[in-house]
Amino acid sequence: MLDTIATVASNTEIAPGYKLLTLNFNQAIHARAGQFAMLKAHDAFEPLLRRALAIYQVGGATQLSFLYQVMGRGTQALALLKPGGRVDALIPLGNGWAEFFDNQSAEKNPSSLAPIERAIVVAGGIGSASVLMWCEELRQKNIATQIFFGAASARVAQGCGLADFRALNMPLTLTTDDGSLGERGFVTAPLERFLRDGGNQQAAIYTCGPWVMMKRVAEIAEPFKLPCFASLEAPMGCGFGVCVGCVVAMKDADPKSYGAYKRVCTDGSIFPAERIQWEVAAMTH
Ligand SMILES: Cc1cc2nc3c(=O)[nH]c(=O)nc-3n(C[C@H](O)[C@H](O)[C@H](O)COP(=O)(O)OP(=O)(O)OC[C@H]3O[C@@H](n4cnc5c(N)ncnc54)[C@H](O)[C@@H]3O)c2cc1C
Ligand code: FES
Repeated sequence: MLDTIATVASNTEIAPGYKLLTLNFNQAIHARAGQFAMLKAHDAFEPLLRRALAIYQVGGATQLSFLYQVMGRGTQALALLKPGGRVDALIPLGNGWAEFFDNQSAEKNPSSLAPIERAIVVAGGIGSASVLMWCEELRQKNIATQIFFGAASARVAQGCGLADFRALNMPLTLTTDDGSLGERGFVTAPLERFLRDGGNQQAAIYTCGPWVMMKRVAEIAEPFKLPCFASLEAPMGCGFGVCVGCVVAMKDADPKSYGAYKRVCTDGSIFPAERIQWEVAAMTH
């Protein structure tokens, strides 16, 4: 983990309310798909705390990009940055998707698999930022991959990197809540159809998006006995395990002990979906 100051190479609007921030680092960053960074505009007095953003693209050993939705104070301060601007960065953080791909970590993560034959990636909204590099990696591994990409509208889909996902030339099913692009409705509907139509064979599901979407993805995966892994979004204070502001409730632990909770920043951000107490955690997310 590196605590450093990066320099803005570019900060481009992808769609209204969505930007792509490309940062240059003064040393190589060994980032894995699904990892994230804690970022803050260096010269902004406020907010005090860095914000978690997934590593979206790697442009070389010392250049990384982040796709973000301009929402509250932290991302608004990032959105004002111009090339040459400075960003406080804690990077790289979290476990990454590959931890749940093969049996290398089977002991640590019992849900890990012997090499899978098919991957299903479900991205909802800006959760897409966490899975673009993983889709690329799955392609490099020659794993047949079906992408389900859901967004509220055509504008949001564009802001969440739809063009980059389409450029992968992998099978992609697109939904928008308002029907302005792709199939109308939630992304979980075509996912369920796909699994019922036989897409469940020797597959694993990787998902990142709104809490309710991931909860539904986990419910859909369960009767098919499919391994399902979710990258969780939790409010983060520190990003390195000390503030305990990011904990989520887990199923497989003594509910009275601290062990019933896991820190999203250091124990995750990716967890086997079957371990998450979706209902309990939903109250705080
Ligand atoms: C591991 C991880 C990876 C993440 N990766 C990404 C990523 O790649 N890209 C990305 O965009 N986000 C990502 N997030 C989410 C991002 O870190 C949070 O949304 C963060 O709180 C944004 O900071 P902020 O200061 O802009 O908003 P905050 O001020 O922290 O706002 C926090 C909450 O307030 C609400 N809120 C604030 N302003 C508004 C508004 N104008 N309208 C509606 N609701 C509002 C939202 O519900 C939001 O969740 C990630 C989170 C985690 C934990
Ligand atoms: S953000 Fe501080 S412990 Fe996870």
